[in-house]
Formats: sequence, structure tokens, C-alpha cells
Amino acid sequence: MGERIKLKSLGAVGARVEDINLSQVTPDQLNALKQAFADHEVLFFEDQDLPPEAHLAFAERWGEINVNRFFATVPGHPAIAQVVKEPEQQGNIGGYWHTDHSYDQIPALGSMLLARQTPPVGGDTLFASCTRAFSTLSEGLQQMLMSLRAVHSARHVFGAQAEYSEAMKGRLGNSDQANVDAVHPVVIRHPLSGKPALYVNPGFTLRFEGWTDKESAPLLDYLYQHIGRAEHSIRYQWREGSLAFWDNRATWHWAVNDYQGSRREMHRVTIEGEQLHPA
Ligand code: SIN
Repeated sequence: MGERIKLKSLGAVGARVEDINLSQVTPDQLNALKQAFADHEVLFFEDQDLPPEAHLAFAERWGEINVNRFFATVPGHPAIAQVVKEPEQQGNIGGYWHTDHSYDQIPALGSMLLARQTPPVGGDTLFASCTRAFSTLSEGLQQMLMSLRAVHSARHVFGAQAEYSEAMKGRLGNSDQANVDAVHPVVIRHPLSGKPALYVNPGFTLRFEGWTDKESAPLLDYLYQHIGRAEHSIRYQWREGSLAFWDNRATWHWAVNDYQGSRREMHRVTIEGEQLHPA
């Protein structure tokens, strides 16, 4: 396999795949990429000259495309979400720790984010490993968490009354579709690696099932600061033509909003997932 793709681990999570052209991935390379994705949870590819059709075609080799119902899309490409911040806009999309689609009963497998325009400085993305974070908890807490489920929602982020969706007007829409909550195990068995992964996030998790918000907050806050620790995360610096492919069931991400006055445009293609099961 080492000969089919060249991998460079980035530390706590993720690996860079070198010397590969995503428009011409062979079946052998794809098999090796699938193993690497299960092992490293985020794959990074650089210097890719990928028109939107090739971006979609590569994504389709991993599963059905999930068109995110809240994001604006790239003109002419309704299956590609546009993640953009114009120089005059203050807020960015995804500027907080989260994992995409945990508000869906069948959360998306992951997303392929391709950098189309990057600011001269800043605009990095942080990634954290939720499998690594689980493995560094005490056995006592691990056991207790395995008995819990949590409620996730999109209402407070993408719903009509949400401050965030108001601030992102024009870039997000369909607030009427933010109306169904989902319940998932707090510790899932990762569908690809089989590893236990913490599956709660500050973006979309509301509470533990059967607990109040107030009762849930201290333990959720503890888990959030634990997952986000430097030992469990990396910071990725983009250049145009870089593509990150992350697994939503194993990782969190955070788009750093530190490039006021500059433009950043990313194209995101999301792939369908499956029902999650407890570890
Ligand atoms: C996202 O949350 O999907 C956006 C990530 C980024 O723009 O870096």
C-alpha cells in the first residue's frame, strides 16, 4: 500500500497525501485512500487543479452526495456548497468547533473542502480527533459516557430565530428546514475504524437525553475543552488548490476567522453517511 499512495502524518489527526492527482485516482489508489481515511480521519491533498466537475466526481467515488440544505451553492453547481467570506463581511461560516450534520438522524460521512481563494494571511482550519480524545479519558468516565445518548439540533444555528443564520444572511438559507432534532450515542463505534469516538459538539449538541440543559452543561463543557486540547488537534494552513477531506464521525473542525478585509472562498462537497451505533 505504501507504494500506491505517499502519506505524511500531521500529528494528532490527519495526514497529507503527496504526489497524487485527484482527477486521475486509480482503483488501487482509491483503496489505499480509503484505508488512510479510516486511519487518519482527515486527508489533505495539495496543488490540485480540480474543476467543479472533477471535485464532484472524486467525491462520488466515496458515496452519494448529500446536498446541505442550509448552504448557498456555487453558481451552476447545485451539489457544491459555497463557503465564502467577502472582504466587507465580519462573520465566517463554521467559526467554532463543530462537526457537520450531527443534527441529522443519519449524519453525513464527511466533506471535501477545496480552497478556491485564500486570504494572504490567516483563514486556517483547526481539526480535532474525537477518537483520540476518547482514548485519553479515564476508564471510569469512558464507561459512564458509553451509557448516554445526546440530543442534537440545527434550530439554534440555522433556524429562523437563530442569531447565526441572521448574521450569515445570503450565505445560508432554508431556515424552515431546521426543524428536526436527532439523538445519537455519546460514544459511537466509528463505522470505518471501529474505534470508539466521542460524538458531541458545541455547535449542535443540546443536552444528554433525559437530562436538562443545565444538568448537561458542566459535563458537556468538560468534554468540549478536552476534545479541543492541543494534544488532540492540529491547525491546517491552506493554499489555493488544497483539499481537505474530513470524517464527521471522528473529527471536529473550526474555521479560524482572523482575516478581516480579505476574501476567502471554499467549495464543499458532502458525502452521505449511515446510522451511528454505540461503541
Ligand atoms: C465548514 O465548517 O465547513 C467550513 C470550514 C472552513 O471553511 O475551513
